[in-house]
Amino acid sequence: MKALEGKAVVVTGSGRGIGAACAKGCARQGAAVVVNDIDAHEARETAAAIEAAGGTATVCIADVTKWEEAGRLIDTCISAFGRIDGLVNNAALYHASPITAFDPIAARALVEANVLGPLHCAGHAVKPMLAQKSGSIVNVVSGAHMGIRNLGIYGATKGAVASMIYTWAIELAGSGVRVNGLSPFGATRMGIPWNATPDEVARMHAGIQKPEANSPVVEFLLSDLAKDVNGQILRIDKEELSLYAHPALLLPAAVRPEWTAEQIAEAFESEFKDRQVPCGIRGMTDLPVELNTGYWKRKAKPAR
Ligand SMILES: NC(=O)c1ccc[n+]([C@@H]2O[C@H](COP(=O)([O-])OP(=O)(O)OC[C@H]3O[C@@H](n4cnc5c(N)ncnc54)[C@H](O)[C@@H]3O)[C@@H](O)[C@H]2O)c1
Repeated sequence: MKALEGKAVVVTGSGRGIGAACAKGCARQGAAVVVNDIDAHEARETAAAIEAAGGTATVCIADVTKWEEAGRLIDTCISAFGRIDGLVNNAALYHASPITAFDPIAARALVEANVLGPLHCAGHAVKPMLAQKSGSIVNVVSGAHMGIRNLGIYGATKGAVASMIYTWAIELAGSGVRVNGLSPFGATRMGIPWNATPDEVARMHAGIQKPEANSPVVEFLLSDLAKDVNGQILRIDKEELSLYAHPALLLPAAVRPEWTAEQIAEAFESEFKDRQVPCGIRGMTDLPVELNTGYWKRKAKPAR
């Protein structure tokens, strides 16, 4: 029996990229899939590919930044397939710029898509999942939340998404609803200027794994194979599968009867000496400035 046989799942932003790869992977594992995107053409292409391969899919064009549209998305899954077993909060926008070039419009757009989107979708999906005493939510985070130069806004939104995983995993523990994360890595359109030529895209994608490489994490986390996995974030990078360390207090703490700024400075010379934690995922802290695409350039893409 396939890992997701009999399950119904929603994958947001699955018109293309990692979302499309995961929607197709879930369908291959037997799930009925709601393909969601704001790009109707791409969403229909993903659904058509699933059906052409013998899978089951329905399309829901909805903007997850809107509470009501997120509700319609979750309702579509229930009305089409009778239930909702999985939600993959994948849809997101990207923006790169140093803090010295802070763009409040970009910041708001990313917060709406990357933070409000997952909040809205989970806010709607969790009720039917709790009623059926089972469900799995997978939030798509990014290594950027650990710190990558120029990704302050994007990384902050992904840190928020990671916090949702930790909080909901605690809140829903024992209910039958699990919450975990995928930290993906793949050659997609994200971060690529919309007007890049195929050659430029190929150069930027050189050596980067295909989006499909991430799907097994989603398939596992949505399935009953992961029935005892809750509050975890997984990452596949070629042949390596990694589990995220969670932000946590480093123990033992330094202890004094009371603390002053001077005593804290003294702790950095004693207990905390050599214990400052480096930022960044594997020291990958730099991003080429040419990847500073800006979300508005996507919006300027010619209509099809
Ligand atoms: N590609 C990578 O290496 C990488 C690395 C880290 C994290 N991620 C994350 O993986 C996920 C997928 O990224 P991708 O690389 O496939 O990007 P992508 O830009 O190719 O795909 C994102 C999709 O989300 C859709 N979308 C955007 N806003 C939406 C909204 N409001 N409602 C519905 N759909 C919306 C877009 O139309 C697009 O189809 C994102 O959460 C991204 O942050 C990707």
